[in-house]
Amino acid sequence: TFTQHMKEPVRVVVTGGSGQIAYSLLFRIASGSLLGEHQPVILQIYDLPHMQSALKGVVMEISDGAFPLVHEIIASDTPSTVYADADYAFLVGAKPRGPGMERGDLLKQNGEIFVKVGQDLDKFAKKTVKVLAVGNPVNTNALIAMSNAPSIPKENFTAMTRLDHNRALCQLATYLNTEVHNIEKLVIWGNHSPTMFPDLTYTTLHNQKIKTKIDHIWYEKEFIPTVQQRGTAIIAARKASSAASAASAAVDHVRDWALGSNGQWVSMAVPSDLYNGEYGIPIGLIFSYPIVCANGSYQLVKDLKIDEFQHNKLRITVNELLKEKEAVVDLIRK
Ligand code: LMR
Repeated sequence: TFTQHMKEPVRVVVTGGSGQIAYSLLFRIASGSLLGEHQPVILQIYDLPHMQSALKGVVMEISDGAFPLVHEIIASDTPSTVYADADYAFLVGAKPRGPGMERGDLLKQNGEIFVKVGQDLDKFAKKTVKVLAVGNPVNTNALIAMSNAPSIPKENFTAMTRLDHNRALCQLATYLNTEVHNIEKLVIWGNHSPTMFPDLTYTTLHNQKIKTKIDHIWYEKEFIPTVQQRGTAIIAARKASSAASAASAAVDHVRDWALGSNGQWVSMAVPSDLYNGEYGIPIGLIFSYPIVCANGSYQLVKDLKIDEFQHNKLRITVNELLKEKEAVVDLIRK
């Protein structure tokens, strides 16, 4: 029967449950896009007290999807209920960026939210919980949450640069007049911000390196800034920050982490503490690296050669992350 093939349900937390990103994300999780068609889920959805009516509506809609994989839906403004025994946590809830703002403008306001989230995960979630920060500024928010959850291994805390990775793939595929699946070994380094470095040094098309085939002016003056500024371009066009594409990237990130990336490189922002200063990245940051995922964990792609151009780009994004960290130092638990 249907249930015999089914695994035990897992508990998936989504915060910011009545927001724009969750409105896409929850339905992707419910449909099996996240963990496959044999993995039932218990959705544990958080939003603030004054958002509970809107959240109720979202729950009604998930119910109306009649998703066979949705074992239970828990929606609440009570952290002990929402984070209880969580296996996965999508930290979406945060103030979004509006026109004219940089992600850094959100540092303090959203930092406070992530202190509480870290403490709540520490108290109520499984110690194996896999955490993805989606709300901006993501890298620093993930760092704040991680430092406030000392009983959970650091490596369980990640931040999303998969959206930038996907944006870069699409820009490059268009330029090369090919499809995204023919492209491999693209890297987003650093912060999810305009200092990020979308790096094509190792990138291949049909297993051939492309670096020598692309116009360097296009790379530096068009490709890199377009990827760096894509979030801003979406805000200008939509008058609201990206939502469905962010949800889709969040699914990609956690799916690959949980189920493996099949040898493909992906970009994930993860604790630099794990890698001992590799590539010159100081410890104490959440930094986006080239990563390969297998067996429910992730690993850094090691021994890449870094040239002067890359080194300079890396330094810029490292410095920005160090500054962000300094601005919220009182929210980081030692
Ligand atoms: C994005 O990259 O689209 C999001 O981080 C939203 C933003 O503030 O840019």
